[in-house]
Amino acid sequence: MGFVVGLAYNLKKDCPGSDMEVEDADAEFEEQSTVDRIAKALRAGGHRVVKIPYRRGLLSRLQKLNVDIVFNIAEGWEGRCREAIVPAILESLGIPYTGSDPLTLAVCLDKAVTKAIVSASGIPTPWCLKVDSVNELNNYETDSLNYPLFVKPAYEGSSKGVRNSSKVTDYQGLIATVNWITTVYKQPALIEEFLPGREFTVGIVGNQEMTVFPIMEVRPVVETGPESFVYCYNTKHNNLEQFLCPAPVTDELAVAIRDVAIRSYRALECRDLARVDVRLDSSGVPNFLEINPLPGLSTVSLFPITAMASGLSFEELVWQILDVAATRANVAARKAAQVQTHEIIAEQRRKTVPLHG
Ligand SMILES: Nc1ncnc2c1ncn2[C@@H]1O[C@H](COP(=O)(O)OP(=O)(O)O)[C@@H](O)[C@H]1O
Ligand SMILES: [Mg+2]
Repeated sequence: MGFVVGLAYNLKKDCPGSDMEVEDADAEFEEQSTVDRIAKALRAGGHRVVKIPYRRGLLSRLQKLNVDIVFNIAEGWEGRCREAIVPAILESLGIPYTGSDPLTLAVCLDKAVTKAIVSASGIPTPWCLKVDSVNELNNYETDSLNYPLFVKPAYEGSSKGVRNSSKVTDYQGLIATVNWITTVYKQPALIEEFLPGREFTVGIVGNQEMTVFPIMEVRPVVETGPESFVYCYNTKHNNLEQFLCPAPVTDELAVAIRDVAIRSYRALECRDLARVDVRLDSSGVPNFLEINPLPGLSTVSLFPITAMASGLSFEELVWQILDVAATRANVAARKAAQVQTHEIIAEQRRKTVPLHG
């Protein structure tokens, strides 16, 4: 059945933070070409598409649109609840949408909160400390910190605020990086144990039944040891990374990586789709790094590349995401009931004799 699908998104060009004078201010947001590509895929699947850019008046616009479901890739502009805003509006209007609910989206954007849940579920994840400012470090026994450490923004994605300098080897480096994050990105810094091992990412689509796409390894183009690799803004910008999908790993390691990904997806109550970042610790044990319940869908995004390694085309991936969400939310039945109600009302109107005239 063809649906009327709203497509909600934030465009890079509308990003209000570009005045931050930092090169990755708009890293989380979409290019028009990605939006057009998803819309084209949805149309090819027999659906009608209504584009819904994220801007003021979204609620009243959605109220009038009468869409069957929203394909949500909207990240919101700022704050750790930014990704929860569109789903919260949609829930208030009773409109089904693809992807996780507002609670999961807000939790997963705050890396410390996410890791507390993941860790409580027995999934390995590096030790961490969230600080609002450099001064807060005075409250801790900083002499007992084990370097190297990794310092990144607490509420970002797309490697925003992550550079080669995020790996710090002494207190001076720690102070400088915490200061940079809290002042430039205006949010707490997450200080984490540095994981020196290989890095992987795992794409998942589904709910009770899941499709786990082939594991992807992210490596530097110039072969250096994983301990000096950071998948950061500089790496991405200068194309210094290579993707191996499926990753060249033993069956045993593949099982362990997939296990971390699936258990985190479940623990965080993700829905429909997500991409999980995993990195090996010094003993070779896969650790949870972070999860992306709104994974990028551009031509260079990792999630569609892993889907394609499983044999899916981009269109098929988009249809599969829509399909699992529509099934979960019973969209076809809701639409059929709506059509029936409209027919009954129309029939009643036809039968009603006008009282005046
Ligand atoms: N604790 C860590 N140890 C080693 N590398 C890390 C650690 N945390 C992050 N990184 C590196 O930084 C990159 C970006 O961090 P990540 O937590 O995935 O943030 P984002 O949400 O921006 O993708 C990772 O892909 C990895 O290369
Ligand atoms: Mg990541």
